[in-house]
Amino acid sequence: MSLHGLTSITLGVPDVEAVCGYYEEFGLTPSGRSADGQRRRFSTLDGGEQLAVTQAPQRRLLEIGVGADDPDDLDRIESSLARIGAEFRRSGEELVVHDPYSALRVSITVAPRIVQSPAKAEPMNGPGRPDRANVRAPGIERTNKVRPRRLGHVVVGSLDQEASQEFFTRGLGFKVTDRVPSLASFLRCSTDHHNLLLQRAPVNFLHHTAWEVDDVDEVGRGAHAMLEEHPERHVWGLGRHHVGSNFFWYLKDPAGNFSEYYADLDCILDDQLWKPAVVEGARGIYNWGPPLPPSFIEPDDLAALMTGAHAPR
Ligand SMILES: [Fe+2]
Repeated sequence: MSLHGLTSITLGVPDVEAVCGYYEEFGLTPSGRSADGQRRRFSTLDGGEQLAVTQAPQRRLLEIGVGADDPDDLDRIESSLARIGAEFRRSGEELVVHDPYSALRVSITVAPRIVQSPAKAEPMNGPGRPDRANVRAPGIERTNKVRPRRLGHVVVGSLDQEASQEFFTRGLGFKVTDRVPSLASFLRCSTDHHNLLLQRAPVNFLHHTAWEVDDVDEVGRGAHAMLEEHPERHVWGLGRHHVGSNFFWYLKDPAGNFSEYYADLDCILDDQLWKPAVVEGARGIYNWGPPLPPSFIEPDDLAALMTGAHAPR
């Protein structure tokens, strides 16, 4: 048995209230809060409680949760971590460990796999292929609020990308799906193309969290609704990544974290059949879309994060 995906993440932000309002609008469902109201939890449609938001002096990803099938997996990880000299804490069905290079705390727990009801395959017309004859596209008829199915991946800045990759692969058992030399490594702990993207950076920071929706129409509809009254939330989209193939649209929460609606990510069911690639140049970032905004690679608050003087906007 093995690791099977991200279970949840904990975001630390200066203004919990503002950020919670944003993620509720983004389509996550409030599902609980601590007695003092300072730790709030949100659910996705398929993944259950997958986001916790809590107070922190500056924005950062405090923890990622990874699901494992059974305690044997935790035993195996214990041995691997011991081999690479990483310290961890094990208590029953949870193992907590810290990667010093990405400043990420990882909590691996024995948890059930997320089971997703299949999204309806919508026919599309093409030249000489009228697969959707005599009716309008279902995507334009939808009026419901877009709600992410589940948390897909997180992207974090690591001070030593190679060392972090070593920690997550040799230490925890993540697999390398693709690499962009000296910039990023796409790692997976499920059948998703990536669940964790480690990006070389001068400071530890959360680049973005990514939330799966049914299809490209939901990517567009979700972003459209978020931008209607808040055009300042726009970061980058609509586009399609080359690495991972997903359609994307990135938005910015009030703390400065990017959140991505995505659909049609590559999916690896058989490790033997996937050919990891080393992707160079612009394709490392995207295949098509609007021009890449410089603030996507280096968020506007990066300097402030480096001095610890970040102030929420
Ligand atoms: Fe992403």
